Parts: sequence; C-alpha cells; structure tokens
Amino acid sequence: SPIRIIGISGSLRSRSSNTHILRAAASLAPGDMIITMYEGLGDLPLFNPDTDGDKPTAQVADLRTRLNAADGVLICTPEYAGGMPGALKNALDWIVSSGELMNKPAAAISASPSLTGGEKALESLRLTLRMLSADVADDGTVAIPLVSAKLSAEGELTDAATVLQLQLVLGALARQVRELQTREPGSL
Ligand code: FNR
Repeated sequence: SPIRIIGISGSLRSRSSNTHILRAAASLAPGDMIITMYEGLGDLPLFNPDTDGDKPTAQVADLRTRLNAADGVLICTPEYAGGMPGALKNALDWIVSSGELMNKPAAAISASPSLTGGEKALESLRLTLRMLSADVADDGTVAIPLVSAKLSAEGELTDAATVLQLQLVLGALARQVRELQTREPGSL
C-alpha cells in the first residue's frame, strides 16, 4: 500500500517559500508515497489546556484525524525570531495530550532567505517533535539557506542540489515507514 504522508507548512503566507519547498517535495516523492497538504494551520484555535478536553473543535479533531490516518509527517517551516512560527507550535501543542505523533515517522525542513537556512527553527522543531515522541531520522532533516535564489518567480524549485537534499529526506521518511510496517506487531 502507498505511504501516506501529511505535509505541513509552518508559514501562512500565500507565497511562502516553505510552502513552495513542501510542494516541490510532494512532486519529488517516490512512486509509492503520497504527500497530502494540511491546510488548516491558520484555522486552529489558540491552544488552551482548558479547552483540550473530550470535545475538541472540528478544526482540532480534523488535525488529529489526519495525523492519525497518516504514516508519517513532513513539516517545512520558516524561522521567526529564531524559532518556529507560533502557528506551527500551536498546532503541535494541540497534539501533546492526544499523542498522534507518537512513534510516527517525521521529517523536518526549514527554508530561509538567510545563510543559516532557519537552522534555529529547525532545531526547535526537532526538539518539539522529540517531546511528542515522533520518530525523526538523523537524515530526515535539512535546512535550506538562500531559498529565494532557489525558487523561480512561480515558486518552482530550480536548484539541483536542493532537489537531491529533498529526495534524501523523503527517502529517509520512506525507509522509516517501511521499517515500522515490517516490524512484528507487539514489538513496537
Ligand atoms: C523573519 N525571517 C527570519 N529569517 C531567519 O532566517 N531567521 C529569523 O529569525 C527570521 N525572523 C523573522 C521574523 C519575522 C516576523 C518575519 C516575517 C521573517 C525571514 C523569513 O525567513 C522570511 O520572511 C521567509 O520568507 C519566511 O518564510 P516563508 O513565509 O517564505 O515560508
């Protein structure tokens, strides 16, 4: 069966370079992988433990259902003031209690017009994914510097080295999912 991956862009901006990178990754995915975009980040309520009870809002329930149904998650995030955007952290905070990312293969990308590629945001995202017990492979993350120069005006990825990096990250994600699937039930 195909590997089902949820793609989450940490940017709400309509012409986001991170969303473009995520779309590029989706088009580069191996033949047995389907990457579906999660578009609901901006519609989630602000996380509040008071409302994190038995009756989640439709938006929160939808996020959880989509994550649950997926074999893995691919997140591509900008860096805002040295961390991941609040909108992305907010979404991840909604799944602390419900645990949809527990033992779930996850890959993380940051893209920035700067030279550092948003590596601080990537590091903070990696830490949060670890706290959520997501399974991030060592070769499952990449920071993409100088991203503006690697995208065309239409948002197409034009940099061959970045194509290769995305393929490596997708390969790591596919490997993790397949490893999980071949393990005996009960050995998890
Ligand atoms: C930024 N940007 C930025 N870049 C970076 O490398 N490190 C940083 O700490 C920040 N901080 C930051 C804060 C705020 C409020 C904004 C609006 C921007 C620049 C950022 O990388 C750039 O705007 C990217 O284009 C954002 O990603 P998307 O929206 O193109 O995906």
